[in-house]
Amino acid sequence: MASNAPIGVFDSGLGGISVVREIRRQMPNERIIYFGDSANAPYGTKTPEKVRRLSFAIVERFVRLGVKAIVIACNTATSAAVDDLRATYDLPIISMEPALKVACDRGNGTPQRVIVAATPLTLREKKFTALMHRFSATNTIYRQPCPDLVEIVEHDRLEDHELVMATLHRYFDGYDLGSIDSVVLGCTHFVFYRDYFRQLLPASTAIIDGNEGTARHLHDLLEASDELTDPTAVGSVTLQNSDTSERMAALAAKRLDF
Ligand code: DGL
Repeated sequence: MASNAPIGVFDSGLGGISVVREIRRQMPNERIIYFGDSANAPYGTKTPEKVRRLSFAIVERFVRLGVKAIVIACNTATSAAVDDLRATYDLPIISMEPALKVACDRGNGTPQRVIVAATPLTLREKKFTALMHRFSATNTIYRQPCPDLVEIVEHDRLEDHELVMATLHRYFDGYDLGSIDSVVLGCTHFVFYRDYFRQLLPASTAIIDGNEGTARHLHDLLEASDELTDPTAVGSVTLQNSDTSERMAALAAKRLDF
C-alpha cells in the first residue's frame, strides 16, 4: 500500500541537499525531511567512532518522526556507520559510496585513470579500500582528500570564485589532468562544485557523482515494497539543522535552490 510517510535524508551539513535536489527531481511527490548536522561538521576529519555516534543520534530522531526510509546522503557517515545502523534498525537505509564503479565502467574494458575526491575519513576507511581493490588491478586510481571544499560550503563561500579555484588548484595541480579519464565527486558537498571542476578539468575528463544513482535506488526500493507515496500527494522538503541560527536556515534554503 502507498505510504505518505516522509523520507529522512541526512548529512554532516549542507552537502546532502545536493542529494535532496535529485530526489525531488525523480520523486516530486515525496515528503522529505532533511537533517544537516552543521553544528558538528565536518565529519570527514573526525574519528569513525564519533561519526557513528552522531549518525545514530540523527537516525533515532528520524525514527521518532516516523520516516519510511532513510538516506545517508553522506559518504563519510556511510563509511563509519551504515553497517551498524542497518544491524540496529529495521527500515530501509540507503547509503552512498564514491561512484568509482561508474567511473571504471566507462572504459568498457579500457583501463581508466580516475581521481576520487572525498573526505579523509572516507578515503582511509575499510569500505573505500575494499571498493578500490575491486577496481585497482585494471585501473589507476588516485585518492584525493579535499577537506577544505566542505568548509567552503559550510561557511557560505561557494560563490567566491577566486577562493574556490585556488583551493581546487592546490588539490589537483599535482596531477597530469590531461591523462585523467574521470574525477569522482565522492562527497556530497563536492557536487555543488561541478561547474568549478568543469573549469579546472580538460573537456575530456568526466565528472561523476553518485546522486542520480542514489535517488534511483531509493525509488526502486520504495517501489518494490509498494511504499512510494500516493501519486496525487503534494511533495515537500523540510530543512532541519543542528545549527539553528537564521544564517544557517537561509544558507540551507539557498543550497536547495542552487
Ligand atoms: N558530505 C559528506 C560526504 O559526503 C561529508 C562532509 C564532511 O562533513 O566532512 O562525505
